[in-house]
Amino acid sequence: MAKDPERFSNHKMVSQYTYSTHALPSPGTSTSPPPDLASIARRYADLRLEALLTSPTAFASSHEIESKLASEAWAERVWRNDAVVLVCVAHLATESNQSHGLLDGEWVGSAILRGPMPGHEYALRPDHDAPPFGSDEEETKWQMTAVFASAAHRGHGIGKKLIQAGKDFAMAQTSNPSSGLVLRPAKVRLRVLIHPDNLVVLALYSATGFTDVARTTGQEAYRTNGDLALWDLKLQSLTDDMKVYWKTAKVAVVMEWLGEIP
Ligand SMILES: CC(C)(COP(=O)(O)OP(=O)(O)OC[C@H]1O[C@@H](n2cnc3c(N)ncnc32)[C@H](O)[C@@H]1OP(=O)(O)O)[C@@H](O)C(=O)NCCC(=O)NCCS
Repeated sequence: MAKDPERFSNHKMVSQYTYSTHALPSPGTSTSPPPDLASIARRYADLRLEALLTSPTAFASSHEIESKLASEAWAERVWRNDAVVLVCVAHLATESNQSHGLLDGEWVGSAILRGPMPGHEYALRPDHDAPPFGSDEEETKWQMTAVFASAAHRGHGIGKKLIQAGKDFAMAQTSNPSSGLVLRPAKVRLRVLIHPDNLVVLALYSATGFTDVARTTGQEAYRTNGDLALWDLKLQSLTDDMKVYWKTAKVAVVMEWLGEIP
């Protein structure tokens, strides 16, 4: 794609920040919720609401819907069995190098990684042109969604860092013998479903090793992203023709990355 000249001139500038990525506490990595879960959930809510406000067409949900969520609902979005929330934290580069706590810096990016997803849930429906994938014993399967970087921090690698954090998390969970998996799978499969008009995100995932493997419906994007509750709201907002389009037209771009456990 043609690169946005303004953004790429910014890209050449050295950021005054350093960026680190973190997986928020989740049942996949911790035995019980952290004592500061409410503070973590509040920070995540602030960032997510900023994403919905500043990039309203990028996500299935809306600021109107999510700004009404209670603090308990945000805590449940962080501490959940089916996914982990990844965040990127910025610190002024002039600050000392000592390790910072999750809540010390400014939260400037986030993404959600769902998984490991069993094959029957990962399979696209109908699946006749979807690529084949291995059994759950051979590979773990994950889906990334909702990647976001704050507008003021774009062009400094936050998107790439979040995707790398997703790959690292999935690889670590797959190779960790205490992760509850009976056999240690040898591979990790990560997928993302992208709106065909979102050229920046298509370029971002291509730049991080994902390949274009298929097309699927908008309805499948909602289902596999774990947004079925939002799908019902979406349907209510559509005309009959558009309902058929969202259920049958294969327009969402399916990209995958396959990693091997060393
Ligand atoms: C997509 C997004 C997260 C990228 O964040 P970012 O931190 O600016 O991205 P990075 O700096 O890591 O860029 C990584 C790659 O993405 C691509 N890219 C990012 N911004 C781009 C732009 N404006 N034009 C063209 N390519 C771009 C490039 O391939 C770039 O690699 P390069 O720098 O080696 O050329 C950010 O633009 C965003 O939050 N967009 C709105 C939300 C959104 O659409 N989310 C997707 C929901 S599915």
